[in-house]
Order: sequence, then C-alpha cells, then structure tokens
Amino acid sequence: MSDFYQEALNLFPYSQAIRRDLHMHPELGFQEVRTSGIIARELREIGLEVTTGIAKTGVIAMIDGAKPGPIIMLRFDIDALPVSEQTGAAYASQNPGLMHACGHDGHVAIGLTVARLLNAHRDEIPGTIKLLFQPAEEGMNGAEVVIRDGALENPAPIRCLGLHIWNEQPVGWLGVAAGPVMASAGVFHLTLTGKGGHGAMPHQTIDPVVAAAQIITAAQTISSRNTDPQKACVVSFCVLHGGEAFNVIPQTVEMKGTIRAFEPEVEQMAFKRLAEICQGIGEAMGCQVEIKIDNLTPAVINDSFGAAAVKRAAENLFPGHNLDERGRFTMGAEDFAFYQKKIPGTFFFVGSTNVEKGFVYGHHHPKFDFDDSALPTGAALMAQAAIELLKS
Ligand code: NI
Repeated sequence: MSDFYQEALNLFPYSQAIRRDLHMHPELGFQEVRTSGIIARELREIGLEVTTGIAKTGVIAMIDGAKPGPIIMLRFDIDALPVSEQTGAAYASQNPGLMHACGHDGHVAIGLTVARLLNAHRDEIPGTIKLLFQPAEEGMNGAEVVIRDGALENPAPIRCLGLHIWNEQPVGWLGVAAGPVMASAGVFHLTLTGKGGHGAMPHQTIDPVVAAAQIITAAQTISSRNTDPQKACVVSFCVLHGGEAFNVIPQTVEMKGTIRAFEPEVEQMAFKRLAEICQGIGEAMGCQVEIKIDNLTPAVINDSFGAAAVKRAAENLFPGHNLDERGRFTMGAEDFAFYQKKIPGTFFFVGSTNVEKGFVYGHHHPKFDFDDSALPTGAALMAQAAIELLKS
C-alpha cells in the first residue's frame, strides 16, 4: 500500500486552500448550500459518482475498489456555528455572526483529500467506500435526518468511521479507543411557579428565586453523591431567567441546562435524580414544578473492530506515534452516535493545537483556530483506516 501520509503532504496546498475558502464562507446547518456545491464539484472533478440533496445539503460519493469486499462509510460534518469570529486571520469569516468555530471546515478539507487519496488507489481497495458529507451536526442532529433520508441504504455500509480535529490536544496527538469516547447529551427545562409580590414583603409571596437557588445547589450532588466516583456525569444549569425589577419577587423562574454521561444507566439515574430534586425541593418551597428532561444525543461508543483498524493505520503511518487509547475523551457530544445506533462505528480524534503558532483556543470559542498541519495527518489516517477496515 502506498504512503498515504506522504501523498497527503503533497496534497497539503489543496487541503489548506479548501479549508481556508470554507472558513471564509461559513454556513449554518441545513443551509450549507455553497459548501455543499463545492464538495459536489470537487468530487465530480475526480470522476466520482455524486448524490446531492441528502437532508437538503448533504453529499454522498462512492469509491468502488477494484477488488471485491464490503461497503464501509466515512462521514465528515460540514456546518458552522452562530459565533462572531475574533481570530483576525487573513481567512477569517466573511459572513457576519457565523464562524467555523468547531473545525468542520477542516473536516470537509480532510474528506475531499481522503477522496483524492483513495480514488488514486482504487486498484488496491478491497471493497466499496461511501463518503458522506453530513450537514447540521451542531445541535441539530443532522445525522438523524441524513439516516431518515436513506444515507445508510443503497448501498448499505456495514461499518462507519468518523473523526474530529481536536483542539484539546497538540498536533501529533491521536486519540482512538474502543468503548465510550464522547458523552450523551440530555437537555432539561424547568419552570418554578410561585407567587410574586413586593421584594420588601416576602412573607406575602412564594419566592421561586430562593427555590431555584436550592435546586441548583442540591443538583450538584447528582454527580458528587449519586454517581459512581469512577464514572462521570455532568449536570450544568446554563439558563436562569426570573424577575425584571430589583424590588419585585417574580411569579416564575425558568431554568435550562444539560446532563452529560457516558453510560445510559448513569444518564437515566441523573434524569431521575434531577426530576426528584426539582419536584421535591420546589414543592417543599411551595412552588408548582414543571420539569421536562430529554435525551438529545446518545453517547459515542466505538466498536473494538474499528478502533483496532484505526490503531493499525496509525502505527503504519506514524511509527513512534503518540496514540492515546484511554477513551472517554470528552463530555462533549456528537451526532455520529446516531450512525452507531444502526451499524458499528468508530470515531477518532486528531490533535490540532499549536501553542507556538497561537492556536490555543477551544472549540466554539470566537478565537478558535487550528494548525492546518492536522489536515494531512487526519486525511492520511482516515484513508489508511478505511483500507485497514476493509482488509479485516
Ligand atoms: Ni464539531
């Protein structure tokens, strides 16, 4: 097999140009019209059969290997975020209020580079590779819509791979593991209704603000007292609305937040405890309690077969590699989990910070940017992992 890393390095000017162009023109989920057009154009340019309009702006292309074998899918997400860019980069966003602040511009560039790498080696590919460019990963669960639109059918892949460039780790770091690697995301919405009144006469009111304070404090015991200390659970209150005037006790307080966990049983426990705490404390304080808790995205749980293929690819490409196999890389969530509910899938991470070059901000930060040298690393690893997976 060819040296995909050397070939990806040769393609670096191409990968970087694509990434920077997309970075200048970010588009939100299901609105990635320009992005999707570029993806389709680039894939057709190398002679691939392309299907557009999957979940509005998704694109699928097929690479048929010369040798018989199974079908696998490689997935790349393509959307940007409603963030106002503050990087000051020459290639900064030209769309006010929108930014590629998660690095999905890099994922598109990696995906198009992978298409070129694999297409040039069709004769060595034992099977078929389906490339999926997915819209609306950011909080919109585009994966679910893409699946509903038939992305996993005609032809049906038996396994899938996905990746994320990762600004929690330096360039050169690679992360892959079997089992959980990203958490599930739950969302809760709580309304406390008391009895408003004068701030100077609290005895005539039922104060939902004080009840809210007690609930927020008590909910911290879900992770510290109810969760097995060797497992992880996050309960964060992120929205707190109540009152308008400094001297008026409001009638209602509204709260929203998120629950993260790796194991479904931990998530279910946290949902149950949060409901009990809200109901119990709210009522004890005299309030009416309305609480709604839902799972938004399941945890990303890798299959061991795919993780082993990515590991072999990393060992082949980057001898003496810095491969992190600890798993449970982040409490962040990813809609890649929806594919894993249908077929075995593996999601891996490619380190992309560089302190010397000033790429130090985290994902979704207005100054987020990453070291472009992660592009050839990510593309080579994805292409090689696909071959390893097909061969096994
Ligand atoms: Ni992302």
